[in-house]
Amino acid sequence: MGEDDFRTNADGTPAEDLPTKDQLAGESFAERSNEREAAVEAEASTGAGVDEPDLPPAVARFQAEHPNADADAARVSVVHEAERGQDDEYRWHTGLNRPTGVPDAVEFIEVHKAFGRNKILRGLNMGLPEGKISMILGPSGTGKSVCIKHMVGLLYPDDGDVVVHGESVPNMRDDELFAMRKKFGVLFQDGALFGSMNLLDNVAFPLRQHTDKGEDEILEIVGRRLSEVGLGEAGDKFPNELSGGMRKRAGFARALVLDPDIVLFDEPDSGLDPVRTALLCELIQEIHEENGGAYTVITHDIMSARRVAEYIAVLWRGRIVESGPAAELFNSDNAFVRQFLSGAAQGPLGME
Ligand SMILES: Nc1ncnc2c1ncn2[C@@H]1O[C@H](COP(=O)(O)OP(=O)(O)O)[C@@H](O)[C@H]1O
Ligand SMILES: [Mg+2]
Repeated sequence: MGEDDFRTNADGTPAEDLPTKDQLAGESFAERSNEREAAVEAEASTGAGVDEPDLPPAVARFQAEHPNADADAARVSVVHEAERGQDDEYRWHTGLNRPTGVPDAVEFIEVHKAFGRNKILRGLNMGLPEGKISMILGPSGTGKSVCIKHMVGLLYPDDGDVVVHGESVPNMRDDELFAMRKKFGVLFQDGALFGSMNLLDNVAFPLRQHTDKGEDEILEIVGRRLSEVGLGEAGDKFPNELSGGMRKRAGFARALVLDPDIVLFDEPDSGLDPVRTALLCELIQEIHEENGGAYTVITHDIMSARRVAEYIAVLWRGRIVESGPAAELFNSDNAFVRQFLSGAAQGPLGME
């Protein structure tokens, strides 16, 4: 592993703030935009890589533009990189977005977001296709939850745009934002149930808050959603009486009560054992099949991705490394993507 690439400050935090890195990030930012356009063009005109049919165009182009980046290393092995400088920080980020054939429900366009000097999103371009189960995959602390908060207008980009069904979220007035949020069902990382309410009231909460439905209709909807997630008999239970898996399912039921067009799951698998994770993934698939909509599952768990993802975006260092239909990503020739999707210890991704 290239230690140089994963430099840390004396206190162990990632060395994200060095001015040289900022400058270099700016350069590769522009470079990458060009690459991305070129990739789209190349794909549109030829349908395949031009010179090397087995390489995606953006990868081929990337390699052509970075003669110093060992072409084999870019494809197969990535262990000889001790001397690499920061300008190679984005060398795995081809930005390649393989077409899905459907429009995007949510788009991030050159989004930048920093907290103080901590730059989290650094020119993020990402689309989440309509009607599919998408996964945003990335190591912990890369900004996955920050992405979700941008989609629902809980955080605003410093620069760039976040677009939901063609409308710019940061430019919405408060009332538009409020209406827009009804499109979303969100299952936050910890389930985020109200501890003082039983499950029935927890799941009814969005309906009471956002609609003027009568109590009978609300109870009917809540009962149906709770049964769907296997909690039909648990309406009078309080969150602390439930297992972690049950709390997640209750959160899922609550995320669905407003019939959302877009459902966001923030690490639904965190804190669950493999069997419960598998069951939850199955449930997500079943409910998606029944209800449709753009589902976005955020996770760092590759097994979950293998199970349910139809579309995958790999996020690292504030940008997408590569994205596209899941089957294509699992067969990617990008060393970083391959390492990440196989969970291999050896590769460009090291301990940060
Ligand atoms: N509201 C906030 N204020 C300051 N820093 C934040 C805030 N939200 C997130 N961060 C920082 O942004 C980084 C990415 O966070 P997050 O999106 O939660 O990562 P993950 O990919 O694990 O979900 C972390 O370093 C986190 O500390
Ligand atoms: Mg998170």
